[in-house]
Amino acid sequence: MTPRILVFAGSNRSGAYSGRTAEAATRELAMQGAEVTRISLADYPLPIMDEDLEEEKGIPENAVKLARLFAAHDALLICTPEYNGSMPPLLKNTIDWVSRVSKDAGKPLKPYPGRVVGICSSSAGHFAGIRSANHLRAVLSHIGMEVIAPQVSVPNGGDAFDEDGEFRDERLRKGMARLCSTLMQHARLLSTRVEP
Ligand SMILES: Cc1cc2nc3c(=O)[nH]c(=O)nc-3n(C[C@H](O)[C@H](O)[C@H](O)COP(=O)(O)O)c2cc1C
Repeated sequence: MTPRILVFAGSNRSGAYSGRTAEAATRELAMQGAEVTRISLADYPLPIMDEDLEEEKGIPENAVKLARLFAAHDALLICTPEYNGSMPPLLKNTIDWVSRVSKDAGKPLKPYPGRVVGICSSSAGHFAGIRSANHLRAVLSHIGMEVIAPQVSVPNGGDAFDEDGEFRDERLRKGMARLCSTLMQHARLLSTRVEP
């Protein structure tokens, strides 16, 4: 079975290191035979989570669209930046809104429980966003996702990529290959994919 993997980054910044990491992951997954969907959260803008807003206007359509997309894939790969030792609000806000979706046109829709997910992190500094990745891992586990152990954390984002967008450091290239093969293996074994 060809695993379907959804890849996105937790930053909409042009030239974002997390976006470049997501691009490197997309290429590696495709090379290993996955069917990859690469999305940008810029295409799914959401207001800041507010339960009053949710009660007044309901769950925003973009959160429902993302929940459908998550459910239609065997696994996700999330590339997070690090803001003040944690994940940025764009990513947490997206996770939070999507967690409010439990139905689609009256039918149950479970975007998270049991779904396989891999994590990459990156930052401008030496610590490679590792604290953000740890927080993200805890949040994704809390919402019932199957978070795989291999992880790619990219330090010094400004120097990490060559002109083709590949990692300069061979250890990162090998780490990404391992992360992608493990993600695909788990996606095949644990798929809870729902056809849209
Ligand atoms: C509000 C804010 C907080 C940040 N905090 C951290 C931090 O805790 N650790 C870190 O390594 N870099 C931190 N940075 C620098 C980011 O690593 C850098 O801006 C990076 O390019 C953001 O990710 P992106 O390239 O994917 O957009 C911070 C940046 C911002 C804007």
